Amino acid sequence: MEQKIKTSNILVIDDDLGVRESLKIILKDKYCVSVASNIDEAFDCLKNILPEVIFLDIKMPRANGLDFLKVMRSTNSNIPIIMITAFPSTQTTITALRNGAFDYIIKPFQPSEILAVAEKALHHNIELSKKDRLVYNLRMAVQENFFSTTEALLHAIDAKDSYTAGHSKRVSLLFAFVAGDLGMSKSQIEVLQYGAFLHDIGKIGVGDIVLAKPGNLTEAEFSLMKRHSEIGYKIIEPINFLKECLPMVRHHHEWYNGRGYPDCLQGTKIPFEASILSIVDAYDALTTDRHYHKKYSHQEAYRIIQQGISTQFVPSLTEKVLSIIDKYRETCMKDEQEEDS
Ligand SMILES: [Fe+2]
Repeated sequence: MEQKIKTSNILVIDDDLGVRESLKIILKDKYCVSVASNIDEAFDCLKNILPEVIFLDIKMPRANGLDFLKVMRSTNSNIPIIMITAFPSTQTTITALRNGAFDYIIKPFQPSEILAVAEKALHHNIELSKKDRLVYNLRMAVQENFFSTTEALLHAIDAKDSYTAGHSKRVSLLFAFVAGDLGMSKSQIEVLQYGAFLHDIGKIGVGDIVLAKPGNLTEAEFSLMKRHSEIGYKIIEPINFLKECLPMVRHHHEWYNGRGYPDCLQGTKIPFEASILSIVDAYDALTTDRHYHKKYSHQEAYRIIQQGISTQFVPSLTEKVLSIIDKYRETCMKDEQEEDS
């Protein structure tokens, strides 16, 4: 005889052994059934299995079914929960449904009733998973579109100011390397790297004349240029998934001594990730040709940054970041040699 593959898990939570056993007998041919006689056992079960449907007794000693239901819903769990009750009262039923119960059955029940409600709940679960997947895919598509659009904007800035071409990309790669070496988690770096990539997005709001002016800026022009960190902040602010990048975009020109911009933050008031970015940003700006200076050698750039320790840059962090940049350069050189050979 052909063996049916049972792929769906059902958890039955009831303090009455008779109810647990009869539900198990009814459901076991089609589903993998686990049982728990109280809420604590149920939570233990959930550590090992993720049920697609839960049958839950409303009345149990100590914590009852409604308490369990509330906890499950507070964890954003979408598992359909079918309440079991012996004495249905309108109020209890309404409370259960208001708290997110999928359905309820009344004891004594018929096997056909149980199978039908389990089937309906499973179908509901599958539909929810499909919707979740769809929402996830849509969110990813929106993010991808957003980044290709912002990349286009950054290319537009590069086109206005060819000297900074590629700056954002280089800074984001170097930032990720430095942050990784400083012990930031992968997921944190993944998000903050976008902040590094977009740190100068506000330059889109600075006039071309200022942006591409050869030589030194006048005081008035520099005031306009300084606005880019606030403009960038305003561009990024409405985008929910970039919330963690806001401090970097706003504060990457703050100085350790409080003489930076836009908020004159001082010392440890400057967000850590913005302090890292400010060193990485300065290193890349110094080692590439600009309107206002020819590119400096690696050693010269280090010397200039070291001179800024305690005024512009955070003391202990700067030495660490510079030594990590050394490692980064070694890694890049190794990669280049391997490509050449
Ligand atoms: Fe900047």
